[in-house]
Amino acid sequence: MTPVPHSRPWVTAEDRAAVDAALLSGALATGERVARFEAALGGIGAPPGVATDGGTAALRLALHALGVGPGDEVVLPTYVCFSVASAVQSLGARPVPADVGEDWLMGPAEAAARLTPRTRAVVAVDVFGLRSPVEALAALGPPVIVDACQALVPGAPWAGAAARVYSFHATKCLTTGEGGLVASPDAGLLDRARAARDAGKGGRLSDLAAALGLSQLGRYPDFLARRRALAERLLVAMPAALTARFVAAPRGECVFRFPLSAPGLAARTPVRGDLHGVCLRPGVDALVHRALGLPDVAFPRACARFADTVSVPLHPSLSDDELDRVIEVARALR
Ligand SMILES: Cc1ncc(COP(=O)(O)O)c(C=O)c1O
Repeated sequence: MTPVPHSRPWVTAEDRAAVDAALLSGALATGERVARFEAALGGIGAPPGVATDGGTAALRLALHALGVGPGDEVVLPTYVCFSVASAVQSLGARPVPADVGEDWLMGPAEAAARLTPRTRAVVAVDVFGLRSPVEALAALGPPVIVDACQALVPGAPWAGAAARVYSFHATKCLTTGEGGLVASPDAGLLDRARAARDAGKGGRLSDLAAALGLSQLGRYPDFLARRRALAERLLVAMPAALTARFVAAPRGECVFRFPLSAPGLAARTPVRGDLHGVCLRPGVDALVHRALGLPDVAFPRACARFADTVSVPLHPSLSDDELDRVIEVARALR
């Protein structure tokens, strides 16, 4: 029995035809398809975004466009993959991790506790597709970049954010294989990001990849609806004790991950291979503050979330049989 993967791209005959058409056209490098993809994802009424070869590169370009450089500090949640911190480090700036709240998200209190006169930007991460309190974070002063790599909602309101960055990695909501994009309501910021990308400070996306992205984007409302429908079925089937934290969290249109949480759950659960044919994973692979060698004492809730959170497969290509297996295995978690 092939294990149910934790994530899997949803690729249809339509997607394959779109990539084939790009191949046949002979236009494979950055061109007209990338321009259409950038325009579609800029945001309603916003200028076209800046497509890159990944979410990390998109974040690096957005930070660069905000003027982040050597000696600056950037506040970010510790409950996120290290590539977010590495985007900051790649500009010679210092990532300053903050604790998160009960709901996995960094709130204004956690971010405010890390602000110094050297803070040049704050990165709010919409982990699992949850919604960061962007307005409250923006009210702190420094510009806020929303890392929406796990929360692609085209046209989402800016709520005071200076920019949003997306990833189109094969595990994400919509994929171009590898890929990313900076979106912003600020045309000047985008001009600076684009100039930096074209000067080699961030990789470009190819038309071949954008062909897949455009095709997926055409079906994206179905992706979001299927994710929400699967989440509703999981919510009904799971013991309430495991879903209470997720139910209480600020969910938006995009349900990227389905986190279960109970004290010590991640420590007791096999989150590397598969468990009875279902691949479960930790909420994040590691906490940023630990990778930076900082002690746990200032990050109590992030440490608790790391120990208590397990993510179960939830992706639009899950078949009904696979969903039944996920439910069976997840219901047996203690
Ligand atoms: C929240 C978050 N930020 C940034 C990234 C980096 O994106 P990419 O792998 O496309 O560089 C990821 C992807 O793993 C992510 O989940």
